[in-house]
Amino acid sequence: MSHATPALEIVGLNKVFGGLRATQDVNLHIVQGDRRLLIGPNGAGKTTLFNQITGDIIPTSGQIKLFGQDVSKLRPDQRAHLGLSRTYQIITLFPKNTILHNVALGLLGLSNERWNLFRPMARASHLHDEAQTILESVGLGAMSNKLVSQIAYGEKRRLEIALALAQKPKVLLLDEPLAGLSTQERLTVKNLIANIPKETTVVLIEHDMDTALDLAESVTLLHYGKVIVDGTREDVISDPRTREVYLGH
Ligand SMILES: Nc1ncnc2c1ncn2[C@@H]1O[C@H](COP(=O)(O)OP(=O)(O)OP(=O)(O)O)[C@@H](O)[C@H]1O
Ligand SMILES: [Mg+2]
Repeated sequence: MSHATPALEIVGLNKVFGGLRATQDVNLHIVQGDRRLLIGPNGAGKTTLFNQITGDIIPTSGQIKLFGQDVSKLRPDQRAHLGLSRTYQIITLFPKNTILHNVALGLLGLSNERWNLFRPMARASHLHDEAQTILESVGLGAMSNKLVSQIAYGEKRRLEIALALAQKPKVLLLDEPLAGLSTQERLTVKNLIANIPKETTVVLIEHDMDTALDLAESVTLLHYGKVIVDGTREDVISDPRTREVYLGH
């Protein structure tokens, strides 16, 4: 596949909820390997845009392409199999399982073994080995046998990223991975994101621009469902419309 094919392309995307236009004629062109920061105030439509990219919600109109392929009509699991992975703004984990088991379940979801529902997970030890390796990569290796309900919020957020990375995504969507973290935890998660292999295209939502700006190569600013500014990090920072949305002047 040509390198010029964008990892993710969005054309004329609209989402109307009742009378509210949550996404308004959004066009995005995200090249392979990009680190795209999606910013915008509360309610700007950032999560709604992610939900449409993953197929969790159906657009009112418009098109979504992954590596040149129109995925607009595909189910979320079909998009996942094409290499799309995400984290959610609200943590979705199995609290009564160990963190190791949560990652192993994530791996199982991607493997052909998912059809073999009667095979006890305990016997799928290679999945646990792989899950352990992934947990070590996010600094949670030593606590892999803790229950999700026993670990701290910041650790859960790292676990969520581990779960997404376990799918070896080609395109990874991260919805506010730094939200609610302490300064120390932010640094850890930022390092984790900075070390994601360049083959993975990363789209990161954050509504505080300063927090995630140094992770970004390109930035899209959304406001009331519309793309207001879109370009390189430097272009977006210096654009007067960015100041206007953030500072109101
Ligand atoms: N399922 C839904 N039904 C109706 N309205 C919705 C639905 N989901 C989102 N909205 C509305 O769409 C708009 C965009 O919401 P969205 O969650 O995408 O914003 P966001 O940019 O992610 O905000 P935040 O920074 O607070 O996470 C909001 O006005 C929200 O209330
Ligand atoms: Mg959101």
